[in-house]
Amino acid sequence: MSKTNNNRRQFLQHSALGIASAAFPGLLLAKAGQVKSAPTRGFNPDIEIEMTARQGFVPVLKSGPNTRVQKYYAKLLKGPKDTLQHLKGNYLGPIINYEKGQKVRIYFFNELSEPSIIHWHGLHVPQKSDGHPMYSIQPGERFVYEFEVMNRAGTSFYHSHSHELTAEQVYQGLAGLITVTDDAEKKLDLPRGEYDLPLVIQDRTFNNRNQLQYLHGMHGRMTGFLGDTILVNGKPNMEFSVKSRAYRFRALNGSNSRIYKLAWDDGTPLTAIGTDAGLLEKPETRPYIMLASGERVDLWLDFSNRPVGSKLVMYSLPFSGTMPPMYEKMQGKSGMGGMRGGMKGGRMGNRGGMGMMGGKLAQGTKFAIATFKVTEKVSDSPKLPSSLIKFERLTESDVDNANNPLPIAISMKPMSPQLNGKSFSMDRVMDIERVPLGSIKKIKIFHEHGMKNNSIKGKGGMGMMGGGMMMSMAHPIHLHGQQYQIISRKMEGMRNDDYATVKEGFIDTGWKDTVLVMPGEEIEIIKPFQDFKGNFLYHCHNLEHEDLGMMRQFYVY
Ligand code: C2O
Ligand code: CU
Repeated sequence: MSKTNNNRRQFLQHSALGIASAAFPGLLLAKAGQVKSAPTRGFNPDIEIEMTARQGFVPVLKSGPNTRVQKYYAKLLKGPKDTLQHLKGNYLGPIINYEKGQKVRIYFFNELSEPSIIHWHGLHVPQKSDGHPMYSIQPGERFVYEFEVMNRAGTSFYHSHSHELTAEQVYQGLAGLITVTDDAEKKLDLPRGEYDLPLVIQDRTFNNRNQLQYLHGMHGRMTGFLGDTILVNGKPNMEFSVKSRAYRFRALNGSNSRIYKLAWDDGTPLTAIGTDAGLLEKPETRPYIMLASGERVDLWLDFSNRPVGSKLVMYSLPFSGTMPPMYEKMQGKSGMGGMRGGMKGGRMGNRGGMGMMGGKLAQGTKFAIATFKVTEKVSDSPKLPSSLIKFERLTESDVDNANNPLPIAISMKPMSPQLNGKSFSMDRVMDIERVPLGSIKKIKIFHEHGMKNNSIKGKGGMGMMGGGMMMSMAHPIHLHGQQYQIISRKMEGMRNDDYATVKEGFIDTGWKDTVLVMPGEEIEIIKPFQDFKGNFLYHCHNLEHEDLGMMRQFYVY
C-alpha cells in the first residue's frame, strides 16, 4: 500500500473517530473508568437480583475431581420467589423466570480476575442494560442493570459479553437461561412446572484431570471451538426420566460454535412451538431442526403413546456444508465419516485427529445428545394446540427501505472474519449503520466473496478460490435489540447436496434474533428499531468469530 493511501486511511479513521466520539459521550467516560453505575431514583423494580461472576468448582463429570469454572451466582433480593431457579452443582447460572411487564434491577458484581459484563440475549432492553462491551467492568466493580421486560413469552439467555473475552468466558461457564411468560401464553394449555424443562446444549473438552481445555491458536479460532464432550444442562450423558405425556423442552444452543441437527433416533419428527424469544403462531413439525450457536427452539416432546420402559435418544444427525471446504475435505464428509460416540453421547474418546481444526468430534458428525426414558404412565396430557400466539407479520410495506436494504455482508479475510468489510470497533459506526429511532428496516445478510464459484464441486479446490472462498462457512448472525422476522432465504450457489442435509431444519416463521446463514445463502429480514436509542450490536454468534472482530453495531438515533 502506498504511503498516500496509508495517510488517507489514517485520516479517515481519525475523522470517523471524531464524529463517533461526539455521538457517544458516555463511551469516553466508560473507557476512563469514570462511569459508576448506580440505581436510578424513581425506578421501582418488581424484581431485584444480585448476580456475581466468580470462579467455582463444580462436579461436571460423574467421577474424578471437580471442574474449575467461571459461574454466575445469584441471589433474589426482591420479587416472586420462583424468579431464580438454581441448578445445583452446575456451572450454568440460575434460570431466570420473568413475566412481561416486570421491572427488573440487577446488581452485577465482577469477582473474576478479568473484565466482564452480562448481555441478556433476546431481551429488548435499553442500550445501557444490554451488556455492550463498552460497559465491561473491572474486577471488583459493580454494574447496575435496569429494564422492563418488554418481550412476549419465550426463551432467551444471558451470557458474558466482554469483547475478546466472550468466547472463553462463556466456555468457562458464564451463561444461563431466561424464560418470559405473559398473559397470552398463560391462556394456552402448555406444559408447565415440572413438564417445562431446559435443554441447554453445549460442547466441551476436558483433560484427564477433568479440567476444561479451550483452544489456542488461530486456525481453531477461524473455524470455531468444537469440544468432544456433549453436555446437556451442564452434564454429560444426560438422561431424562419422563412421564407418558407432553413436555415443553426449551432448547438453547449455548455452544461456542457447534451447530446441532436435532432429531429422534427412531425417525419421529420434532415439533417446535417457539423460536428465539417467542412462541410461534402455530406449531411446526420437521424431520429435524437445525440449531446454531445462540439460537433457541421450544420443543413440544410428546411421550403420550410411549410405553413405560421405552427409551428415545435425541441425536444430532450428520450434515455438511457449514464448514470451509478445506476443513470438510480433511474431516471426510460427515455423512460418510460415520458416527462417533454412540448411544452414550458423552465423552467421545480419542478418535479422529484433526487437532489443528480444534476438534475430535467434527462439525456435522452424528452423535447422541440426550436420552429420554419413560418411567411412569399418566393418563392426562395437554394436547398440542393448533394455534399458539398471533402476531403481526412484517412485510415490505412496513419498511422505509424496501429497495435499499441495510447490508450485513459476511466476509472472511485471512485470519479475520468481518461484517460489512470491517472488524469491530467500539467507538465507530458507518453511515449504513445509523438508523433513526422508530424505523423498521429491511436488512439483507449475505456472503461477500464470489460465492457463485462454490457450486463448482470438489476440486475447484483451495488454490484458485483464494482466501475468502476457501474459508467460506456458515455463520449464525445475531442482532441485539428487538426480534426480527425472516422474509426470504435465497440459495445462490452452495453445493446442493450439502444444502439438502440442512434445509428442512430452519424454522423461519417466528420471531428470531439469530439466524444461521449458510455459505452462498442470502437472507432478508425485517427488524424494528424502536423504543431505545444507542448502540446495538450485530455479530456472528460463532463466539470465536465474534471475539476475532466479526461484530459491528447499529447506532439508533
Ligand atoms: Cu448472545 Cu451479542 O450475543
Ligand atoms: Cu462467523
